[in-house]
Amino acid sequence: MPETVLVTGGAGFIGSHTCVELLAHGHEVVVVDNHVNSSPHALDRIAKTAGRPLAGAFHVDVRDRKALAEVFARHPVDSVIHFAAHKAVGESVGHPVEYYDTNVGGTCTLLSVMHEHRVHRLVFSSSCSVYGDAQTVPLTEQSPVAPTNPYARTKLMCERILEDVCTHLAEMRVLALRYFNPVGAHPSGRLGEDPQGVPNNVMPYVAQVAVGRRQKLSVFGNDYPTPDGTGVRDYIHVMDVAEGHRVAVEHLDDRPGMQTFNLGTGTGTSVLQLVAAFGEASGRPIPHQIVDRRPGDVAELVADASAVAAAWDWTTTRDLAAMCRDAWRFQQLNPHGYSRRPGEAAAGETGELSCG
Ligand code: UD1
Repeated sequence: MPETVLVTGGAGFIGSHTCVELLAHGHEVVVVDNHVNSSPHALDRIAKTAGRPLAGAFHVDVRDRKALAEVFARHPVDSVIHFAAHKAVGESVGHPVEYYDTNVGGTCTLLSVMHEHRVHRLVFSSSCSVYGDAQTVPLTEQSPVAPTNPYARTKLMCERILEDVCTHLAEMRVLALRYFNPVGAHPSGRLGEDPQGVPNNVMPYVAQVAVGRRQKLSVFGNDYPTPDGTGVRDYIHVMDVAEGHRVAVEHLDDRPGMQTFNLGTGTGTSVLQLVAAFGEASGRPIPHQIVDRRPGDVAELVADASAVAAAWDWTTTRDLAAMCRDAWRFQQLNPHGYSRRPGEAAAGETGELSCG
């Protein structure tokens, strides 16, 4: 049954792809985003890509209870996907209070406004970083959690809060998705990752090297206990992440309470393997040099993705070649991201937004 889904952080990387996926499956989508780390231009691109408009888009911070309540009053929200959060690990160490305020405080405000409006169905954006420095891979949902930085701790705290809320409120249904490393872009090249400043994450950095915006990639360490010594991650195509969220919304009523799932592919890829795959996809070798390890990095994070497959009869379908090909297409078509092209406004300049 089509429903009205409120997507917080809907203009961001994963949020925007999820909106397209929801629209393509007949759902009505309302976006709330404060555009601190996303471009309002993504909203137009969502509608163009899906061929259908959003039901609403609001320039609202999830901590703003009054503004959030107005959105719930205007739209018949059936379920919520909560992406809106700060997500840079390094930044979280320097600005812990801001991270707790936005990620934990924002989730609490959202939960209380949802409750006031009798909305009790939520898909929560969690992270594999809750597992910390994994002792063994692949990681199942039962693997020990041991976050190593404030960002990861905010995600785990939100999970704990959601468990408590589900224990208290019988009508609450929550699916928390711990995703591994989302990369890639929409195959149209219209939507993708648009990091502000120097990318923290490896895939957008590699893409900017390929397009000539950056000279070379620094590979952070080649002395890890992995096959080629570089860090191994479970990269997952953002279209698979988006599909996973849409499928999650459709499974919210499977059972009451909270369930937590990994969202990964189960396949590990090293930094050097990623560099080689991107070189292949772009037809351009990626200049790189080995440098010291990045503080806080772990050797290997790979998901055991079997729980979600068993629960929803759903698995990821896009491989590393597709992730590189689509990231490359987006980078070529948008060499300076969404909004820093001549004649276009910078992110955040368009002010209050609403439509639908
Ligand atoms: C981090 C977070 C994760 C978050 C993700 C996206 C942790 C453990 N992980 O993932 O929660 O979802 O960011 O925001 O907190 N690398 C290089 N050169 C670079 C950049 C990265 O060699 O310029 C290497 C890293 O050492 C690592 C791999 O590439 O081995 C992936 O790094 P990155 O893309 O930053 O993601 P994570 O750190 O795994």
